[in-house]
Parts: sequence; C-alpha cells; structure tokens
Amino acid sequence: MSRTFYIETFGCQMNELDSEKIAGSLLHEGMEPVSDPAKADIIILNTCSIREKAVQKVYARLGEVKRHKTRRGGDLVVGVVGCMAQLEGEKILERAPFVNIIAGPQKGHVMPELVARALETRRPAIDLRMDDDPEPLETRHVLRVSAWRAGVTISEGCNRHCAFCVVPLTRGPQKDRPSSNIISEAARLVDQGYLEIVLLGQTVNSYRDPSPPGLRFAGLLRKLAEIPGLKRVRFTSPHPNDFSDDLLDVMVSCSQVCNQIHLPVQSGSTRVLLAMRRGYTRERYLETIRKIQSATRAIAISTDIIVGFPGETETDFEDTLRLLDEVQYDSVFSFKYSPRPNTAALNLPGEVPEEEKGKRLRRLQEHQNLIQYNKNAAYVAQVLEVLVEDRARANFSLAGRAANNKVVNFNGPESLIGKFAEIQITGFSANSLRGVRVQ
Ligand code: 5AD
Repeated sequence: MSRTFYIETFGCQMNELDSEKIAGSLLHEGMEPVSDPAKADIIILNTCSIREKAVQKVYARLGEVKRHKTRRGGDLVVGVVGCMAQLEGEKILERAPFVNIIAGPQKGHVMPELVARALETRRPAIDLRMDDDPEPLETRHVLRVSAWRAGVTISEGCNRHCAFCVVPLTRGPQKDRPSSNIISEAARLVDQGYLEIVLLGQTVNSYRDPSPPGLRFAGLLRKLAEIPGLKRVRFTSPHPNDFSDDLLDVMVSCSQVCNQIHLPVQSGSTRVLLAMRRGYTRERYLETIRKIQSATRAIAISTDIIVGFPGETETDFEDTLRLLDEVQYDSVFSFKYSPRPNTAALNLPGEVPEEEKGKRLRRLQEHQNLIQYNKNAAYVAQVLEVLVEDRARANFSLAGRAANNKVVNFNGPESLIGKFAEIQITGFSANSLRGVRVQ
C-alpha cells in the first residue's frame, strides 16, 4: 500500500504554491494525498515566519500533531518546512523532538528523498541549504488545488533589505526564472483549462529575465497576455519602486491583465519609510498612485501597512491615516510590527508598546472600513464578470472574484464553480459585494 500524505499551509500565496510543489513531488513518487491528518503517514507543516505570531501558530499546531505521533509512533513522519523551518532550524527539535524533517522553503523537489532518509535512518532529515539549484524555480511536479486558477513562480527570494522583514533570510537573494520557461508553463496551464494565472515573486515586478530576450516584468506580462485562451493574469506583490510606466501601460492596454494592483506602502510617513529602508518617500509613492489613478482603465489598489514600527510617533501614524484618505484604497492588510530575528529594525530605538500598537491597528482598520464601505457603494447596479470560486460563507451559495479582485457573493448552482458568471451588484459591505446573476 502506498504512503499517504497531508500538507497544511501557513502564510502567503507563495507558500500555497510551494505546498502544491511538495504535493506534486510526493505524488510523483507514488504517495497519495489525504485530507485528514489522522489518516496520513506523512504530515507536513509548510510554515510562515513573517511575524512572531506565525511562528507561535506552528508550535501550537505541532502540539496537536504530537498526539498523532504518540498514537502512531515511528510510523508517522512529521515534517516542518518553509520559512519558519529555515529560520528556526534545529531549534525546532528542542521544542518538538518528534519532528522528522526540517527543510527550507525551496525543497519541494527533494521532499521524497527527505522522507525516505528520515524513515531509513530514524533520525531527523535536515536540509537548510540555500543553494543555486535551478530546480525550485523549475519544479516539474505540481499538484494543484484549483482547476481554474494557477500560481506560477517567476522569481524566488528578495534583494531588498527592508528593516522589518525576515524574508531575505528565509528565501535568500532573488533568483529569476527564464521567461521562456514561464511562458511555456503558462501556455500549458491554459491548455489544461486554467482561466487565471497568478504570477508570484517576492517583489514580482523586480523580475529580470536571465535569458536572452532579457525581458523586464512589463515585457513578460505583455507576452503572457498574448497566450491564446488565457482569460486572466494577475501578479503579486510588486514593489512601489519598480512600478514602471511600461507596467502601467500593459495593465491599461491588455484586457487579460487584471485591473488590480497590490502596492505595499507600509507607512504614510516619510520618516518611518526611511527607517524601514523602503527606498521611497510618501510623495514618491503618491506620485505612482496618481499615475495609476489617472489611467484610462480603472485599476483597484490595495496595500499592506505596518503600525507601531520602532520610532513611529502619533504624528507619523496620523500621516498614515491621511495617506489612506488620499489614496482611497480598495483594501488594506494591516499588521502590528513584530520584531524579527537578525533584521535591522531590532537595533532601532523607540519601541512602541504592544497596547499602543493594538490601538493604532484598530483605529486604522476602522478608518479604512469606512473608506471601503463608501467605495463599494459605487458598484451598485454595475455588472461584473466574476470567476466563481466556491461556496460563500453565509447567506449566499456562491462567491467569486471580479477582475479587480473584489469578492462578490451571489446565489447560483454549484456547477458554476470554476466558471465565469455575470453578476449585477445589488448590495455591499466594507469587504464584499453581493449581487444577482444576469443570464
Ligand atoms: N512585522 C509586521 N508585519 C510585517 N510584514 C513583514 N514583516 C513584518 C514584521 N516584522 C508585513 C508587511 C508585508 C506583509 C507581507 O507583511 O506589511 O508587506
């Protein structure tokens, strides 16, 4: 009987794709995915380390996994992989000595080997090397969760050193994938029926084609949009400094490129941005936003914000609130600053107390909620093309996303899942729209 595996993913879209690569590699070796950890011979936690809370979550989950281990003994292989594993390394064994595999975020292709090694040696198999192996960018086997939306890696790692961020330490420097490989993977996915391609990279628009066409990100996007049959292409996340006029041009002129951009600002105060080492000022960021907002195609804009970065004063924080007013974001992901190991921000003075961080986060979210509520009102009576994803949480049978990434809830048959539907908007909240199908 073949071994069964269960993978649990924490964190970002890149981690979700990494899990699909792990699953693909294990499947290719004859192992079988299961949806119940109690039925698995291999349990893999694919982890995140962006904030301390993400790390704590994994340790808490490991406490639960331990019960399976106690029940199953040496039979069960437990793997902790991904960013938190890269960061914590063998320290994981101090708190969870029953763990059998520890590996970094680009190890999907060697996972079958690590499983075999752990079973054979009965000792933890550890792989924290960050090498130049091209395989992580070119993983041959991917077991995809969705049959209509597919993530495609265009680069791995990050060359920026934002003072708060641990990612350069977990994923290493930026490595770009040759454009021809990206384009042929996307074309293959379209042939298989995928409707939406999501290009993934840590700073996705810093992409530099290492092969002869030498494409920049905008050029790559233009080529991808030309693939016959591709309905939608998105990308995440771009860095504001690499947002070029050429990229805006592609977003305006290619209808397949979704009219949505996630442009992390982190703070509305130039002083804080400088301390964060973001490489732009409030004014320069706003210039980019104005360009996007004056384009002939309406493009929805979202962002990430950190509150309570060391040295952030009440005035700095109010600058961020004013930035929200000025930009009128379609959505905002906001976080309390979390000190991360070996990052530059650790040495900065002016720690903001936890309680104050919490207050600022709540104020920011309330402020933004009102903006979103008012913005969403403008969609009433519009008809949006929605890619139907799955059952909605409450009251509605289905949910999907418009090209601009708005969540739209509506009633309809389950057979619509994975297809496009035209929805006329009849209502809204701060976080989603609702509507009815138009035939
Ligand atoms: N603390 C809080 N938030 C962080 N982010 C990255 N590092 C930290 C940290 N140390 C946020 C940033 C980033 C998003 C993915 O996570 O806003 O854009």
